Amino acid sequence: MDRRTFLKSTGAGMLLAGGGLAWAQSAPGPLPIIPLTDLTGGIEDRISLALNPASHDFGKGVASETFGINHDYMGPVLKVKQGQTLPFDVANNIGDTSTIHWHGLHIPGDVDGGPHQEIEHGSVWSPDVPIVQHASMNWFHSHMHGKTAQQTYKGLAGVLLVEDDASLSADLPKTYGVDDFTLILQDKMFDGSGKMAYELSATVFEDGFEGDTLVVNGAIAPVAQTVPTGLVRLRILNACNARFLGLSMEIGPVTVIASDGGFLSTPVEAESILMSPGERYEILVDMSAVETNSLNVNLNGDGGGFLANLFGGNQTTTVLTLNRSAAKGFDGAIPTQLANLEPPRPDEATVTRSFQLEMDVGADLAALALAWDNFCGDAGAMAINGQPMKMDRIDEEVRKGETEIWRISVDDQLHPFHIHGCSFRILSQNGGPPPAYAAGWKDMVHVEEGWSEVLVKFDYEATKDAPYMYHCHILEHEDCGMMGQFTVT
Ligand code: C2O
Ligand code: CU
Ligand code: CU
Repeated sequence: MDRRTFLKSTGAGMLLAGGGLAWAQSAPGPLPIIPLTDLTGGIEDRISLALNPASHDFGKGVASETFGINHDYMGPVLKVKQGQTLPFDVANNIGDTSTIHWHGLHIPGDVDGGPHQEIEHGSVWSPDVPIVQHASMNWFHSHMHGKTAQQTYKGLAGVLLVEDDASLSADLPKTYGVDDFTLILQDKMFDGSGKMAYELSATVFEDGFEGDTLVVNGAIAPVAQTVPTGLVRLRILNACNARFLGLSMEIGPVTVIASDGGFLSTPVEAESILMSPGERYEILVDMSAVETNSLNVNLNGDGGGFLANLFGGNQTTTVLTLNRSAAKGFDGAIPTQLANLEPPRPDEATVTRSFQLEMDVGADLAALALAWDNFCGDAGAMAINGQPMKMDRIDEEVRKGETEIWRISVDDQLHPFHIHGCSFRILSQNGGPPPAYAAGWKDMVHVEEGWSEVLVKFDYEATKDAPYMYHCHILEHEDCGMMGQFTVT
């Protein structure tokens, strides 16, 4: 009996409706190319981002209720340049309060877009965001406390690419939508009518929300793209609420050139890479060597809950197939040198802080799921160092410019940890050295056993009225209180 028959003949089939079948879908549709707003040549006007209620067809033939940012689902890909100041006008029309956080940007707390910079429905937030950092793939998403999970899931997210002189002149593919692609990976659940669904339960609070259908740039996977002969660059964001994704190539290895905060010093070849929610990696695929190659995703069973178990935690599915055309594309070779990355210097740290992520603070998650109407809230169901997130409590005070070691540990389960306002270097992950592809600039680190340690320095100010956040990037955990606030002065 194949999976389709199995699902149809069981209760699980009813529950999963169309969703479970998506894995079996065979004919790939085209890869959606997210519209690009390229500002690297100069910025004349303010940059308008309008958060709107919208509807979007993920490929089921029916429209789902979504949020869009200038579009019907998620936002544009913004491409900007180091040295620019971005004059944003973020207009909120979604019918509820929201925020837009610039994940990965090294910017002061008052323009960071965290939970303190609320944008009420009907109003416009106009931060001037200075881009000081070097080339890197960043993103933006809702950070509305208690509602981040649902708002981001519905579509309040987008990608922000920072370029610099070196990256713009680098010998790398950079023709957007031709040999340079931005991929936003997400997992979704669809109900019996084919509409995107989101529902909280005690299990969802524990594992985070995990859908059974993988979506790329708003289209159900697999998708396909024709590319010219030569090198192809994929800039990948894991924008899942909670799911860790294992990425591999049909014809390997994976050649990684950049992580969250910028280029690695040299390309790293890996059999597969593990991407937590919130992480970004850039990879190169050599399409002069093969006629076709595919990016595959392993759904990784970790923290997988009922559905992951049902499907087998290690199921691998094709996300994107690249098919080579006869056209000549980028004909350079994979570069040998990418950036000057010094090894991290832990001996420079003057302060060490410890953060224990706590799942179990004795809250009745089932009751909360019922009471909260699909939102989490300021209810203190999870914690860091014994304290659930509180908007009016500052947890840590950091001195500007000082190098610190942050040690993160957990009481249970695998968690992705994120720090605002910086890029850091991972000293250890789960007690061992990080994989080579995660040894460059990062703003995400994960931990399951033992602890993970990062070396970090904050160069911008965050006052107590506009503090930075650190948190688990499983969005349901974050909303439930697995988050803290710090100032930099
Ligand atoms: Cu991507 Cu504080 O978030
Ligand atoms: Cu962030
Ligand atoms: Cu978590």
